[in-house]
This record gives sequence, C-alpha cells and structure tokens, in this order.
Amino acid sequence: MIRSPIRAALVAATVIASAPLALAQATTSAGEAALADGTPIKGDAVYKAFNEKAGIDRLTDDFVHRITTDPRIAARFQGANLTRLTFELKAQFCYLLNGPCTYAGKDMKTAHQGMGLRNRDFNALAEDMQKSMDAEHVPFWAQNQLMAKLAPMQHAVVTK
Ligand code: HEM
Repeated sequence: MIRSPIRAALVAATVIASAPLALAQATTSAGEAALADGTPIKGDAVYKAFNEKAGIDRLTDDFVHRITTDPRIAARFQGANLTRLTFELKAQFCYLLNGPCTYAGKDMKTAHQGMGLRNRDFNALAEDMQKSMDAEHVPFWAQNQLMAKLAPMQHAVVTK
C-alpha cells in the first residue's frame, strides 16, 4: 500500500525509467512529448476530490506561492513570468485531473530546457505540491493519482 504521494511518485518514476519505450507504446502514439506531459486521469472522482475547477485554481495559487518562496528553489523563479506560469499550471493540472480544460502551454522538456534542474529541485517542488494538496484537503488517494501523473515528467524537467 502506497501511503505518501512522494512514494507514489518515486514508484511511478522508477517504473517509467525501467521501461520507457514499452510505456510510450502502451499509453500514447503521439511520441515522447505526449509521454512527458501525461494523459488525463480517467473518470471524475479525482477531479471532484480536488474540489473541481475552483479547488484546482486555489491549489495552484497556493502552490505558486509556495514554490516561489521555498528557499530551496525560489531562486529558480527569479525573473519568471509568474502570471503565465500560474495560468499554464492551472490549465495543466485541470487537464490532468480530467477537468474541462486543455493545456496549450509548452511541453515539459521545452519549458525547462536550459534551466539545469536537478532531482533535488524536482523533489522540493513535489513536496510543495503535497503541502498545497493538504491545504486544499485533497484526500491521500487522490493526491497519489496526481503525483503519479507528475512523476514521469521528472525525466523531461531534470537535466542535470
Ligand atoms: C512535474 C514537475 C513540473 C511541472 C508539471 C511543471 C510545469 C510547468 C509549466 C506548465 C510551465 C509553463 C510552460 C509554459 O510557459 O508554456 C513551467 C515553466 C517553468 N517551470 Fe516548471 N514544472 C515542473 C517542474 C519544475 C521545477 C522542479 C522547477 C524549478 C525548481 C520549475 C521551474 C519552472 C520555471 C522557472 C518556469 C518558467 C516560468 C516562465 O515562464 O518564466 N519547474 N513549468
């Protein structure tokens, strides 16, 4: 039984690291970018557990505040366009949670290329996401579902 989202994320990442080709073939025909950016969670139970669009928007505002003030990673966001980042994250999370949204932002590899991000940056951001989900009272089972969608993106985001 997976109890923590981080644990779920690590398990998902390990699975993907060990069989990237098989997973790409099994889940998408649209190539590597689609694999990195994920496909929506099925059904509406998880979307509801995130308190629907209003909850996702609230969570994202809280998340952007956390990552931009987290001393471990705040410097990464200096000079970033936070209005755009918040807008794209709201769309991306809503899309992944199977809400009525489309994500039209950059693919994760393009969005983060040249930043030299490390695993520890990714882990700090994942911890901040957990805190934002706790603050929104998202139950653990639903937290795990989103973390399992974000975990495979580590390979596209982390380059160092
Ligand atoms: C699963 C993990 C992550 C997801 C889902 C994610 C998602 C996104 C999205 C949707 C964008 C906007 C793309 C666009 O403008 O079209 C973005 C940009 C960005 N991300 Fe991430 N990201 C992740 C990890 C990280 C990490 C670990 C860092 C640094 C600690 C980071 C720093 C940034 C920065 C600085 C930008 C550019 C903001 C700007 O437009 O100026 N991201 N990310």
